[in-house]
Amino acid sequence: MKTYDKFLKYYDEIVRGINSPLDDEVAFLSKDVIEEYKENSKTILETACGTWTVAAEFQKWGYQVTGLDISENMLKKAKGNMKKDSELILGDMTDFDLEKTFDVVLCNYNSICHLLKWEDWQKFFACASKHLEKDGLLVFDINTLYEFDNITRDFAQFYTFWEDNVCLEMFKKNGIYEWLVKIYEKAEDGRFDLTTEVVQENSFPISKIEKELKEQWFKLLEKVDYHYGEVTAQSERVYFIAKKK
Ligand SMILES: C[S@@+](CC[C@H](N)C(=O)[O-])C[C@H]1O[C@@H](n2cnc3c(N)ncnc32)[C@H](O)[C@@H]1O
Repeated sequence: MKTYDKFLKYYDEIVRGINSPLDDEVAFLSKDVIEEYKENSKTILETACGTWTVAAEFQKWGYQVTGLDISENMLKKAKGNMKKDSELILGDMTDFDLEKTFDVVLCNYNSICHLLKWEDWQKFFACASKHLEKDGLLVFDINTLYEFDNITRDFAQFYTFWEDNVCLEMFKKNGIYEWLVKIYEKAEDGRFDLTTEVVQENSFPISKIEKELKEQWFKLLEKVDYHYGEVTAQSERVYFIAKKK
């Protein structure tokens, strides 16, 4: 499994600063999702917690957050971003057993799309269910196939940080979407050193995910297009909010 490594240096600025500002996202998750569907929630397990940026906001809202991520480097950065002590677990979200339950299991910012095989999505749903209180909430979002196909077809993203330049492009290879990250770092002699990194992602049809959730572990409470509300064939980012059966 390959996640961000070299790109990590720019991750918070690009992903959480520019692409999807945190305040809006955490306000949506706290108010419109958790308070709406499980009002007295206190504990959150954030799977694929990354650099702790989302978890830190939840801590400000008073939640007790436990983080799990497969990347040691992400967790190191998470520890650095942590203002209030909390539990961080190095683990795979398709296969973990913490021997406790939570009010909410969250997998945010299309992190589930890092699971390339459908069986791994199923394993994640099973693990999430096992770690939820009765009536506990599973909340996750996906980049839709429509969105990945758009990104693949349409554009490259360019960012400048300090004196470095970062270029992100997506390609589809053998049915899997691959981010090609190119980093041009300015060296002391004024020239730029290029390093590259590939991170793979995948997605599945909304109807397939919905069917799996309903058939196996959960009652689906809502699915929401993060940008427009109503989910359509052109939705780019969709949140699923499900309650443990
Ligand atoms: C797009 S980042 C999202 C981070 C965070 N959830 C956020 O909202 O900013 C994806 C994260 O998923 C983690 N990840 C990928 N595969 C994983 C797995 N199988 N188990 C746990 N974490 C995983 C990566 O290490 C990375 O930190």
